[in-house]
Amino acid sequence: MFISFEGIDGVGKSTQIRLAEEYLRSKGKDVICTLEPGGTELGQEIRNLLLHRKGDVAPRAEALLYAADRAHHVATKVRPALAEGKVVITDRFLDSSVAYQGAGRKLSANEVRNISLWAVDGLLPDLTVLVDLDPAIAAERRKSTGEAPDRLEQEKLDFFQAVRDEFLKLAQAEPGRFLVVDATESPAEIFVHIAKKLDELLG
Ligand code: TMP
Repeated sequence: MFISFEGIDGVGKSTQIRLAEEYLRSKGKDVICTLEPGGTELGQEIRNLLLHRKGDVAPRAEALLYAADRAHHVATKVRPALAEGKVVITDRFLDSSVAYQGAGRKLSANEVRNISLWAVDGLLPDLTVLVDLDPAIAAERRKSTGEAPDRLEQEKLDFFQAVRDEFLKLAQAEPGRFLVVDATESPAEIFVHIAKKLDELLG
């Protein structure tokens, strides 16, 4: 089982990933949690280039760097774990590229999706949890952590609005794969919806 968590920065994905991991372990599943960008050693270097290097990155170069991270991640970590029967939970996957680079950077959503699909040789999650939140509230939450914003987090509200809208569009287009949860609910309330979906998947 392959599960991705998506959403704009600051919505509380990490908390839900932790809860999902614990829940699946309590059901006897062998779970690995990973992330994009940066789920591998090579990916950590790409992550650093994307988020912490000074200076601009051309939008198409940005899209390709995320796709390169994803290609290596899927080939060397995700697919091998799935082949061993593990549950893989990833913090972000190709929908992030469609939303951030496709909509946020105004590249074609379809082209960005196709680049990523090629990168991962067609692998899609069984379940994608979209943690949805108004970008203004997400920005407040990010500020309250006191952490310095990375290159992407420095983008303005209209960038995050475009990213959020694209995520919601993607969820509407694939209702079978997506579960949309409302990040204004408490973490425990949100997880009730996710656990129900996980139960369905576990059968
Ligand atoms: P995070 O690990 O803190 O979520 O940071 C990753 C950042 O990279 C976040 O701002 C979203 C962004 N991102 C993209 O723009 N495209 C992608 O394909 C992925 C995976 C992440």
